Amino acid sequence: MFEVFESTESEVRSYCRKYPVEFSKAKNAEIFSVEGERYIDFLAVAGSMNYGHNNPEIKAKIVEYLSEDHIINALDMYTQAKEEFLQTFKEKILEPRNMNYKVMCCGPTGTNAIEAALKLVRKNTGRSGVIAFSGAFHGMTMGSLSMTTDRTSREGACVPLGHVTFAPYDGTLDSIAYLKWILEDDHSGVDKPAAIFLETVQAEGGINVASVEWLREIRKICTENDILMVCDDIQVGNGRTGTFFSFERAGIQPDMIVLSKSISGFGMPMALLLMRPELDIFRPAEHNGTFRGNQLSFVGGTAGINYFVDHHLDDEVKRKEKIVARYIEEEILPLDSRLSYRGMGLMWGIDFGKINPAFALEAVHEGFDRHIIMEVAGRKDGVLKLMPPLTIEDEVLKEGLAIVKASIEAVLRKA
Ligand SMILES: Cc1ncc(COP(=O)(O)O)c(C=O)c1O
Repeated sequence: MFEVFESTESEVRSYCRKYPVEFSKAKNAEIFSVEGERYIDFLAVAGSMNYGHNNPEIKAKIVEYLSEDHIINALDMYTQAKEEFLQTFKEKILEPRNMNYKVMCCGPTGTNAIEAALKLVRKNTGRSGVIAFSGAFHGMTMGSLSMTTDRTSREGACVPLGHVTFAPYDGTLDSIAYLKWILEDDHSGVDKPAAIFLETVQAEGGINVASVEWLREIRKICTENDILMVCDDIQVGNGRTGTFFSFERAGIQPDMIVLSKSISGFGMPMALLLMRPELDIFRPAEHNGTFRGNQLSFVGGTAGINYFVDHHLDDEVKRKEKIVARYIEEEILPLDSRLSYRGMGLMWGIDFGKINPAFALEAVHEGFDRHIIMEVAGRKDGVLKLMPPLTIEDEVLKEGLAIVKASIEAVLRKA
């Protein structure tokens, strides 16, 4: 049935191995196979479908744009679609939050914008080293990979991945004390870094939620030591944690912010680097790329921001957060006292580490048999990750949670 994929597509393919059907249609939080089988989506295309598959309000704008023969790719030339996006982003996202940032349109993947950030922090400070955290995932190209921690990903590099010092993330050892020590001790052996890169919730790292206190401490350390703070909001931005930017809950502003995934509103490729204006020192063309001007992404991005604001999606996420948290506490944790959970907004992880990390993947398989799409994350892939579109209907969310429970029950029964 999958003959052409298996004979012709590279062995590097991954998600298709967990969800072995051929997909065709998708609507909000439901995906349909070519046979018309319905699956509930608790993955949201790795966080790129926050506003739901084929969101009608966003789709209408894209269809209208297409039907009028507007330009589709325009490098970084000035276009109406980009003008509207920048204006909307500025007026509806940045200004209400008192944020003053320049916007750099990068190549279309998250990792490209991380590469841009790496280059720019080095160029600004004249320092080559950066600090990243254990458990981090920042992408798969060489610079980003040097800050990505899981062994499987790093092994693909086949050359030394350098210029990064790793520190423990919040909740592991004494993260802040360690950071202060490597910066303050003139015999720590660590050169002063250009920047500290962080995720406020490590998604691929196993849904590790940094505390507000920790985030504020990092901001303080960066300011006091003249080190740039870069927040990778690629997966946890765009409302995923209950606010547009994930760091808002700490009342801080990073020096640079990376956005991708759901920023295009419609699952189209797009990645942005935001930087404080005085850091905007790349010369023209110094981080060029052909696909920095996907106009459908700008159109979708504008409509996505309008959707987020008009539908008060931040409040909706906070409301749904309670539904998920309560369900996990009342229905899932009682299944086995060794289970634990973490999360916020609409990203949650159920940790099988204390029972058997392999159970998380088994739960994904059991779930798929019951028509839900989930993913694993974290150390030894031992965390079952739940991340539906933010627009998921309450009934579908509850239906999905009941399937998660049934899947975990099935795994535990077999153990
Ligand atoms: C936090 C984070 N940073 C960077 C990336 C890389 O983005 P992309 O896969 O678009 O290159 C991802 C992708 O999952 C991510 O979750």
